[in-house]
Amino acid sequence: MEATQNKHNGQESPSNPNPNRQPQPLSKSAQKKLLKQKKFEAKKAEKKALMKEQKQRDAERKRKEWEEKLAGLTEDERLKLIDSRKELRRERMEKRSDERGQKIQRLIQAKETGQNIVLDLEFSHLMTHSEIHSLVQQIMYCYAVNGRCSFPAHLWLTGCKAEIETQLRRIPGFDKWIIEKENQCYIQAFSDQKDHLVYLTADSETVLHELDPTKVYIVGGLVDRNRWKGITMKKAEEQGIRTAKLPIASYMKMSSSQVLTVNQVIEILLKFLETRDWKASFFQVIPQRKRYEADSENCEEVDGEECKEENEESERKKKCIEVLSHE
Ligand SMILES: C[S@@+](CC[C@H](N)C(=O)[O-])C[C@H]1O[C@@H](n2cnc3c(N)ncnc32)[C@H](O)[C@@H]1O
Repeated sequence: MEATQNKHNGQESPSNPNPNRQPQPLSKSAQKKLLKQKKFEAKKAEKKALMKEQKQRDAERKRKEWEEKLAGLTEDERLKLIDSRKELRRERMEKRSDERGQKIQRLIQAKETGQNIVLDLEFSHLMTHSEIHSLVQQIMYCYAVNGRCSFPAHLWLTGCKAEIETQLRRIPGFDKWIIEKENQCYIQAFSDQKDHLVYLTADSETVLHELDPTKVYIVGGLVDRNRWKGITMKKAEEQGIRTAKLPIASYMKMSSSQVLTVNQVIEILLKFLETRDWKASFFQVIPQRKRYEADSENCEEVDGEECKEENEESERKKKCIEVLSHE
């Protein structure tokens, strides 16, 4: 059987791989890419270990400072200080519990009346383990940001199965998230609303000007450094559903492509739902280095780029942990 070719990049169609085909030896450039990826992974692991050590040192230092503080006090003063610390903690917990209650109310309301946004998770087989991990971090971040919005969207995870589902299930509290988790495709999940589905893709000719509450916007759950160029456009065309791209070009010049990450696209949609202002939403979410006006940092090569993405990812992780650990 002839392998189906992806017309956009000449690669074998990801949805229709030929099982009889022998693995081809890697080209020189693919070998180089693989080596670079391995180096990147090693650097990432090293950085993670360093950060863990730093965290442990910080915790130990704080514990010592507290003990030293107590040691210099009389019994009476010590009891007072311990009590006031307990009181502070209690107030903080109360505040968090109130905020959590309000957030749950907003998310329940969004289930009824909010904008439906789907994350299409049917691309697991095209990503490496670490790309899937990065996507999971982005999903956590999107959920956390959505929960903080005054008008949250109603988020859907469709095609939620295989490794991505396994990794998502490892997130503490994931089973309590107010989100739709479907292992079927969005076409089945919205079988009576196919006409209302709009796949967001940077390759569409149609520009999105407004968010229509009756429409369901789909974002491709893919971390691929644009290795799979045009894949979401092709998928939507094959399924006969509408497509649209964000109106980035009307508001800002980008330093390279207009392909954004999953969390950036969702955060832009959430900002737009609150402000109805594309310009403000783009400027708040798209990092300076991706904009044309940005300084010479744009000229840095891919390693630098990866390093910044890595930093962004660890920042995202920190924010998610802050928000979700209080769930
Ligand atoms: C990292 S991109 C994946 C790029 C992938 N090669 C593709 O063909 O879609 C993640 C997703 O964000 C959405 N996206 C990214 N940039 C976009 C843009 N400028 N307009 C609309 N959607 C965009 C798309 O749904 C895309 O699948």
